[in-house]
Amino acid sequence: MILVTGGAGFIGSNFVLDWLQGTGESVLNIDKLTYAGNLGTLEPLHGNVKHVFVRADICDRGAMDALLAEHKPRAILHFAAESHVDRSIHGPADFVQTNVVGTFTLLEAARAYWITLPAAQKAAFRFLHVSTDEVFGSLSEDDPPFSETTPYAPNSPYSATKAGSDHLVRAYHHTYGLPVLTTNCSNNYGPYQFPEKLIPLMIANALAGKPLPVYGDGNNVRDWLYVGDHCAAIRRVLADGKPGETYNIGGWNEKKNLDVVSTLCDLLDASRPKAEGSYREQITYVKDRPGHDRRYAIDARKLEREVGWKPAETFETGLAKTVRWYLDNREWVDEVASGEYQKWVEANYAERV
Ligand code: NAD
Ligand code: DAU
Repeated sequence: MILVTGGAGFIGSNFVLDWLQGTGESVLNIDKLTYAGNLGTLEPLHGNVKHVFVRADICDRGAMDALLAEHKPRAILHFAAESHVDRSIHGPADFVQTNVVGTFTLLEAARAYWITLPAAQKAAFRFLHVSTDEVFGSLSEDDPPFSETTPYAPNSPYSATKAGSDHLVRAYHHTYGLPVLTTNCSNNYGPYQFPEKLIPLMIANALAGKPLPVYGDGNNVRDWLYVGDHCAAIRRVLADGKPGETYNIGGWNEKKNLDVVSTLCDLLDASRPKAEGSYREQITYVKDRPGHDRRYAIDARKLEREVGWKPAETFETGLAKTVRWYLDNREWVDEVASGEYQKWVEANYAERV
């Protein structure tokens, strides 16, 4: 079986659902169930004996050791993290704890488990670390996209902690020979994304008749990838990636934030028209994110060349699917956005008006 951390979050749950549908190999899914983790997303797996869910914190060394000893996975796919940049600006401590200390704890548990494996299993074992393009910092308009050799220059507490975790993963290969793989992906979107992130937040606010809060001048650029394509790339890297290597994942879809929000408004105008006017009228410019990175862009040619991956979705097909999913699953959004999340909305947006 494989072990997945963070499999109740956005990308982890998409990965687990795709994996079980595509391969049938069992998954041990470990998640702390923070505000971002949601068991409702895994409801389709109810009763599936190939999915074992355990609520646990990756910072808990005893729990990690026990789970590895009991389930003996052939690979660890490490998705669990605190992932929202704005939250890292408001409260960085949880990011240091989970992203740095948690990854360190998991690496230590993995190393202790891995050295006990018989030779063939030891050689085949993989620790795949899911990371981000944000570790490379910010590009100006004319810079080439990030490649695997771009120097690290993280700018937010989130990206600094992800960079720290990437360095630890690298060191465990270099020093101990642990067979690690690291992927650095650009912005994901798709089903089950928590509505604090740009695309689901804008869809939810548009439908609720609320302002669509665009930070700064709206000209920051992100490189968007449909979550199913990210999951497919991770499967390819797990199968054919070379231990110790890093792989950038991206869909060659650079977009300005304002263009993304305007396109979402147009899709909603077409599929769920308002009684009067366009959703574009709800677009509101608000105070910028402190230290806001201007542009991210990924050069994914190494991945295409070495493991034969290419995205299946264009931005247009992926976004249309995503809007449809959020329109059809409003109860999922209502459920995850209740309670504690409202306090976050108040904390993040009240000060921007
Ligand atoms: P998410 O915030 O939606 O989910 C994170 C999951 O990790 C949640 O289920 C949460 O409960 C769990 N978790 C948090 N702390 C934990 C802990 N201490 N122990 C166990 N579980 C814990 O995040 P996501 O968007 O799905 O991102 C998954 C991974 O992909 C992260 O490592 C992130 O850095 C990386 N990534 C995300 C994007 C993106 O656009 N969302 C892009 C590139 C890379
Ligand atoms: O690049 C990969 C990263 O993408 C991942 O590592 C992170 O986990 C993920 O959260 C994402 O980070 P971003 O900061 O780019 O995503 P977010 O959805 O928060 O914001 C996308 C852009 O939209 C960014 O330029 C800020 C802007 N924005 C965001 C929000 C929430 C707004 O203009 N208004 C908003 O309300």
